[in-house]
Parts: sequence; structure tokens; C-alpha cells
Amino acid sequence: MSESLKQRRDRLLGSGAPLFYAEPLHIVRGEGVSLFDAAGRRYVDMYNNVPCVGHCHPHVVRAVSEQAATLNVHNRYLHEGVLDYAERLAGRHHDGIDSVVFTCTGTEANEVALMMARLATGGRGIVCTDAAYHGNSAEVRKLTRNRSTDGEVRSIPFPETYRHQSNDPAGFYLERLREVIGGFERDGVPFAGMLLCPLLANEGLPKIPDGFMPAATDLVREAGGVVVADEVQAGLCRAGRWWGHEVMGFRPDIVVMGKPLGAGVPLAAAAASRNIVDTFRRGTRYFNTFASSPLQAAAGNAVLDVIENEDLCTNAGKVGAEIRRRLLELQPRAEAMGDVRGHGLFVGVEWVSDRDAKTPDRDGAVRVVNAMKDKGFLIGNAGAFGNVVKIRPPLVFSHQDAAAFLDAFEETLGELDVR
Ligand SMILES: Cc1ncc(COP(=O)(O)O)c(C=O)c1O
Repeated sequence: MSESLKQRRDRLLGSGAPLFYAEPLHIVRGEGVSLFDAAGRRYVDMYNNVPCVGHCHPHVVRAVSEQAATLNVHNRYLHEGVLDYAERLAGRHHDGIDSVVFTCTGTEANEVALMMARLATGGRGIVCTDAAYHGNSAEVRKLTRNRSTDGEVRSIPFPETYRHQSNDPAGFYLERLREVIGGFERDGVPFAGMLLCPLLANEGLPKIPDGFMPAATDLVREAGGVVVADEVQAGLCRAGRWWGHEVMGFRPDIVVMGKPLGAGVPLAAAAASRNIVDTFRRGTRYFNTFASSPLQAAAGNAVLDVIENEDLCTNAGKVGAEIRRRLLELQPRAEAMGDVRGHGLFVGVEWVSDRDAKTPDRDGAVRVVNAMKDKGFLIGNAGAFGNVVKIRPPLVFSHQDAAAFLDAFEETLGELDVR
């Protein structure tokens, strides 16, 4: 018997290299919100946030091809395209975000942000949440599902209102933050700051207690730390505003961006004040071979062109609201849909086996994801318990696309006998 593609992959990439879906897909082409498999079957992509302007957007393809055919070199030369892009990207933020360090991955950008925070403050202690993921390098990995009560990286329980019981959830989580900061002080670990995804995407996109983020920002600054917003998932109009921190009402000192920036060209960045970035440059002499290149800039500039020209922030807000509205209509009939939430085109449905007890049902979420795939709609599951059905289509997702998805979703609930 000839070797299957899956067997060949296991042999060449190592078994265990992650794959989506019980029956993995063999995707060969993408266009707009669509992906096509080797047999020509169309799937609606409602998961990938890298091709945020749609797969193979002609403007991006042209810009990247022209740049690749003109100059594709490292960053130790002067180049206007790179500076134009840095200026546009920083210009999309509040005052105080002036300068940019480009990298190739979100992990690297978070590494840079950690170095920036530590150099800017002279501290070491970093606070994250206990169900976070910010990347896979040795240092950034310390922030993954961190449960440490000692060392330089420590966590607070991720703030949320779905399972939390007290009548002052913001106060409860702020107290946890005070405790962690106090613990650093007690243990002689000078405090450097807090690093969070503004929407807590990997934690499961919970409803964050009102006022928590701005109050936590104040608390961190009062303690001499800086606030880092990891916008790798939340940013670039995903939540209906340019940045997740705008939705959550706080202004970080350092912003980390990644995934969607280059529409597939590896491009990520950490941006901060001129002072923080200069201190970082002097302190590290940071160099990253493929980062800050004219090719990255061409991709980044083209993505910004499309977002601006097609008004995709507004689209994400409107279409996302429509998806949530219809899911909320379905919720009373489907006990398993414990909570429907999100911002813009980033929607989560918490799947539970008992709505009163709010028991996470990861298997149920996975069943829905696989059944939706069989109907031609690609979604995923994520969150602290893996039970949040994650719906995150490209920003060009239209009302018609949403209607088709919601009809299929309703049908699936019936077929799976979800009550
Ligand atoms: C919030 C967040 N930050 C950072 C990263 C790491 O980005 P990358 O995979 O580009 O290193 C991820 C990846 O999933 C992420 O979700």
C-alpha cells in the first residue's frame, strides 16, 4: 500500500506535528474567505487570522511579488518602504507609541517586549494570566499556562465573569494582581510589568470584568512596571477597532503585533515610545536577519492599504455583531451553548455539558467543529478548557457569508441533537 500524505508527513515532520480535524484537510488553494481542497471542494475559512484581508488578496500578492522581484534583502541598508510602514503602524496607535522593532514571529516580538519592559524598568518580574499563550521560545514559554508562585514570571487567574462567583469580579482579580506584585517585592524580584492579550484570546475570549484592564494598568504603573499588550490575535481590526486595548479601554506602554500583519509573509513587531525603543536598542544591539526587510514592509503596507480602503474595521464590527446576535437567538434552544461572547469578528461560544454547573464540554465543542467542517465551514476550539468554539473569519467576511454559516450552524445543532 502506498504511503498516505499523513504517513509521509509523520515521517518527514515527526508524528505529533499538529493537524486540525479528525479527518485532516488537504488544502491546495485560497481565495478571499475560501479554501479549496485537492478534490476542489470549497471550505469557508472562519479560523485563520493570518490572511486577515482574505486569502491571496490581489493587492497584497502584487505588492509582495513586485518587491520580491525588485529587492529582497536584510535590513542593514536605508529603505523608505520600511520607514513608511513603521510610521503607518505606529501612527495607528495612541501618542507614546512612536517606534517599532520588527521581528518575524509573535514569539520573537514578545521576547523583544519582555526585554524592553525589563530594560525600561530595571526590573525582572512579569505578571501574566494562568491560561495564557504568548509564544514558544524558552523565555516566552514561561508565560504559557503559568502557575508559578516564585521566580520571575508569575500569574493571576485569568479575569472572567462567566464562572466567577463574587459580586465584585474586577475587585477580586485586582486583588490577585496586588498579591503577585507584593510577592515580587517580598521575594526581592524587582517588578517589570504585566503582559496580557487585551481580549484574553487563548484563555477563551472571556467577558473581562468591567474596568479591570484600565485599573490593572494603573496598578502596574503605580508599582513601577510597564504594561505590554499582546495584540498578536486581538489586533489589526479583529475586534472591530484597530487594537484590542482600545476595546478594553486601556493604553499599553508596549504593543506586540503579529499574525495578520503580513497576510502570510512572516511579520511581527513590538512598538513603544522612542525612549523605550532606544533603551532597548542600546541595551541589546538586537538584530533579526529576516526582520525589517523591504519584503516585510511591502506586505505590511499592502495589508494596511486594504484594511483602510475596504474599511475592514467597520466590517468586522458589523458582521461580528450580526453573528453574535444570531448565536444568542439560538442559545436558549441549545443548553450546550453556555455563553456567547466576543468582539468584532472574534466570537467564542462556551460549550458546556450542564448549563447550570457550567461544566466545560471539550468533546462537545470538538464534535461541533468537525461537523461544521463536514458542512464546509472551518472553525476551531480553544480556551482554558479547550471547550470554546472559536469563530474568527477573515476581516472581509460578509453578511452573506455570516448568514450561510449561521444556517449551517443551526442545522448542525439539530443534527448533533444539541439541546
Ligand atoms: C496571543 C498570542 N501571542 C503570541 C503568539 C505567538 O505567535 P507566533 O506563533 O507567530 O510566534 C500567539 C500564537 O498563537 C498568540 O496567540
